[in-house]
Amino acid sequence: MTGAPRGDAPGSGRYGEAVFRPEQAGEGERIDFGALAYDDFTMARLRALGVGPGWHCLDVGAGTGTVSRRLLDEAGVTSVLAVDRDLRFLTERPVPGLEVLEADITAPDFAPGRFRLVHARFVLMHLPERDRLITALAELVAPGGVLVLSDAVDLTSDRTPSTPYTSVMRAMWQGLRATIGTDVSWVPSYPHLLRGTGLMPVAAEIQVPPLLPGSPISRFWADTWERSRAAMLATGLVDDAAVDAAVWYLGSDECAALSAGMLTAWGWKPQEAPR
Ligand SMILES: C[S@@+](CC[C@H](N)C(=O)[O-])C[C@H]1O[C@@H](n2cnc3c(N)ncnc32)[C@H](O)[C@@H]1O
Repeated sequence: MTGAPRGDAPGSGRYGEAVFRPEQAGEGERIDFGALAYDDFTMARLRALGVGPGWHCLDVGAGTGTVSRRLLDEAGVTSVLAVDRDLRFLTERPVPGLEVLEADITAPDFAPGRFRLVHARFVLMHLPERDRLITALAELVAPGGVLVLSDAVDLTSDRTPSTPYTSVMRAMWQGLRATIGTDVSWVPSYPHLLRGTGLMPVAAEIQVPPLLPGSPISRFWADTWERSRAAMLATGLVDDAAVDAAVWYLGSDECAALSAGMLTAWGWKPQEAPR
């Protein structure tokens, strides 16, 4: 199904169907702008966690596969299984050690094995079953391995000055929530949720790339607004002119705003007690 969300309930559509359709021209580029903005942060954290030779890794909702490939090329891991509901971007650039699997990670029987690293970035925030999925992903971590989750944190508040950027960001979060169930409000709870699955120790950090005109993160948000424009307009919070004004603002020296951040949380699976 493409186009409108399924059913009448808010959030009853799905990522990749109601919005962010992979077959729509430029969707791979949009994901890559996000990757350009955040990959260095992600790789630095994964390297600091010790990810390297000998590790078998699972990258869930791998998108265009930038992290999967960098794990192999830069960190020298032994293998990466990159999973996505749509493989078109992953199969474009095969590299040795990269396996791909087309799967819906919300399927109750999704269990592709056990891995020393299980990584999911900008995926769970779009999936309404996130609580169950965190538990399911923790199950896929081998003893001594680590689960690493990254998602967006909205850094606007009711005290944030009203600008073209903040109006449209608010409409975007509300529109995505109503359309596909995206919800970033619980992302700061990740450390707690990871601990609740039995992982220990857990920790988290937030990275915020600067909104400089023409930067990958600015282009990522402008592209994301274009793709979610219908959902944003449906909120009644903004009109077409407001979205156009925000895209212009983001690309100009007038821009004085703080991007949403990326929260990365990780938790370790205890080694099994010796018998
Ligand atoms: C915003 S992109 C993030 C891509 C990549 N992780 C990154 O950070 O660059 C979200 C990805 O999750 C995939 N995805 C969404 N829902 C999924 C599901 N239920 N099962 C598998 N993949 C899913 C999408 O197809 C898309 O490639």
